[in-house]
Amino acid sequence: MTEPTAKPAKGQQVNVRLDTARALTHIIAQQRTVEWVRAERPQWLQSPLHSQLLYGTLRHYLSLGEALKRHLNRPLKDKDLDLYHVMLVGAYQLKHTAIAEYAAISECVNGCTPLGKPWARGLVNGVLRAMQRDGTRNPDPATVAVLDHPQWLRELLAKQYRAQADGLMAANNLRAPMTVRINQSRVTTEAFKQQLDTAGIDYLQGPWSEALTLDQPQLASLLPGWDQGACSVQDLSAQHAAHLMLEALQANTSAPVNILDACAAPGGKLFHLREALAQTGIAHRLFALDNKEKRLHDVEAIGARLGHATYRYQPKLGFTGQAQANEAIGLLCIDGCSPNLPFNAPFDAILLDAPCSGSGTIRRNPDIRLLITQASLLEQQDLQLRLLQNLWQHLVAGGTLVYSTCSVFAEENDQVMHSFLGATRDASAQTPAQDYGQATEYGWQMLPTEPLTDGFYYCLLRKQGVQDKAAIP
Ligand SMILES: C[S@@+](CC[C@H](N)C(=O)[O-])C[C@H]1O[C@@H](n2cnc3c(N)ncnc32)[C@H](O)[C@@H]1O
Repeated sequence: MTEPTAKPAKGQQVNVRLDTARALTHIIAQQRTVEWVRAERPQWLQSPLHSQLLYGTLRHYLSLGEALKRHLNRPLKDKDLDLYHVMLVGAYQLKHTAIAEYAAISECVNGCTPLGKPWARGLVNGVLRAMQRDGTRNPDPATVAVLDHPQWLRELLAKQYRAQADGLMAANNLRAPMTVRINQSRVTTEAFKQQLDTAGIDYLQGPWSEALTLDQPQLASLLPGWDQGACSVQDLSAQHAAHLMLEALQANTSAPVNILDACAAPGGKLFHLREALAQTGIAHRLFALDNKEKRLHDVEAIGARLGHATYRYQPKLGFTGQAQANEAIGLLCIDGCSPNLPFNAPFDAILLDAPCSGSGTIRRNPDIRLLITQASLLEQQDLQLRLLQNLWQHLVAGGTLVYSTCSVFAEENDQVMHSFLGATRDASAQTPAQDYGQATEYGWQMLPTEPLTDGFYYCLLRKQGVQDKAAIP
């Protein structure tokens, strides 16, 4: 579908409903993500109302579609997907918001003309008025949550989570919590908490001194010391990665330790690890790779805000040949599946935060449920396994690889471990027991039904080596 002019012409008023419908059309017809819209069409997410309408309509896309069908005499043609989206945005406002109904409807009707479809004004008006008359504002959240998931996703959740499946779908429709990670290289926890107190921002202390979950999500840029790098936003589930890596490294006696973050961009876990290592004083060399240059630029920009220096790793100079190696993080743009990754020594620990469906973060990214498919889970599985097998070659005997995904599906988690362990004689899974979430055959699964975490999976893989051999009877 051709996209009408993205920016309003001079003097033309912004129609938030129309912008939202255009964003939806890109997401559904061209399989774009909200992240893409934010980066490439920021004008469609320029105000809080834009965000509310886009996220809300995506969250309820399928249940609203069912409701809309009842008021359409016949389905719209494929070429009128944009009109369908205008109606969905209207339906979302009528069913799930307190926005005045006349404003919701008239703005949607007004969206038809700039779409080049003035003939549809009566149709949009008629359908939305009919929906208004059926009077079902604030429908039952549990029923809606089920309808808001595609059939295959419902079935897979039911197969893998049985009685927990409905709770997971309900959690996927809730607002996500916001957890802040204090950058203790920049500010002490006490000083940061005082600044939050002064700003009237309430929080709950997390399991580590750097983790605070806010009572109410805030605009990150308005948090105290944001521009000076005092903190980052990072879900509690993701914050476990650095702590699991630290535990793995503490048993290590070689100094400095060599560490690789193998799918690093945009650097959330990388910089947490850097901050945590600085607290412990463990001498280290930290390297990070990602296969997307643009995303490595994000790592550099975020590092600059947080005060964590980065440099471009020069393969021909090796680990120790680079002047900045001990102070800064070496970045490399390369495919993690490439044979002969250009590192001249093995790593003591590797973090593989693998690309995945993101199915554990659906409440943050409501587009995910509409974009992933069962086939895409298997494609991810293939990539995850190839990354794991390749990176394993770069782990020292006795070293640990922390595998993680923000997925709740076994396809991307235990099934990957099963295939890997079945084919790798020197690997064993040694995932420590945790207080919450649930143990799986090989790892540890957190779910979005926990009050404060996204869905997230970890598995610790230990490489047998000299130390381990001594322990074998
Ligand atoms: C889950 S994200 C990583 C998030 C990151 N660890 C963090 O905490 O901010 C996965 C990353 O893997 C990268 N990626 C995907 N395929 C890759 C490959 N074949 N080799 C290296 N990186 C890859 C993606 O570009 C993406 O940045």
